[in-house]
Amino acid sequence: MSDITASPGRPAELMDLIYRRQRHVYDLSRKYYLLGRDRLIDQLAPRPGERVLEIGCGTARNLVAVARRYPEASLFGIDISAEMLRTARQTVEREGLVSRIRLARADATRFDPAILFGVPSFSRIFISYSLSMIPAWESVLAQALAWVRPGGELHIVDFGRQEELPVWFRAGLRRWLALFHVSPRDRLETALTEFADRQTASLCRFERPFRGYAQYAVCRRAG
Ligand SMILES: C[S@@+](CC[C@H](N)C(=O)[O-])C[C@H]1O[C@@H](n2cnc3c(N)ncnc32)[C@H](O)[C@@H]1O
Repeated sequence: MSDITASPGRPAELMDLIYRRQRHVYDLSRKYYLLGRDRLIDQLAPRPGERVLEIGCGTARNLVAVARRYPEASLFGIDISAEMLRTARQTVEREGLVSRIRLARADATRFDPAILFGVPSFSRIFISYSLSMIPAWESVLAQALAWVRPGGELHIVDFGRQEELPVWFRAGLRRWLALFHVSPRDRLETALTEFADRQTASLCRFERPFRGYAQYAVCRRAG
């Protein structure tokens, strides 16, 4: 497993602070409110031999599920937090997936897969509940679309606008998420449409499952 190529600085310190203790209860607790992750994994559908990258892979919960679901895919994960990666590495080893899942510490706003992993691009890139924790989230979209191969797909799941949920629920959820430095990206669909207009992505498919609690986007990179 490779390690970081550029110093990630303060965002890394903040994520390490948040996850130093939480990583131990992360998978158990997030199961109940990071909705839509398994739906994304179902729809990822890489072909045998294709490379799949998760940006902001956390504990590797999703990568392990993808490895089990698609036994012939090669998997890669990056995360800025050394603490999260400690748990991710333990999980990958425990699950006997070291030969299939490669992990590296990197900042999603500026990374190069050739330096991190010695590969030029990916057939699938996915981002699960990480854009809402990254202030420069639009730079992450640009990076993802740069590193997905032409004809490949970028899948994103994250908190949505909760527009069909009661106002009190939405307000309470957002206050609670802010305590964890999480900001739902209400402009995600607009930003992806702008990328599509600039021909970086073909028009994206966009869904708002769970009454808008979550948002799910799939963009195919123009070939
Ligand atoms: C809410 S967790 C999501 C983890 C995992 N994707 C999941 O679905 O369970 C957000 C993750 O994004 C990572 N992260 C935050 N900022 C990042 C950045 N700039 N570059 C890479 N990873 C980042 C955090 O360290 C954390 O592991």
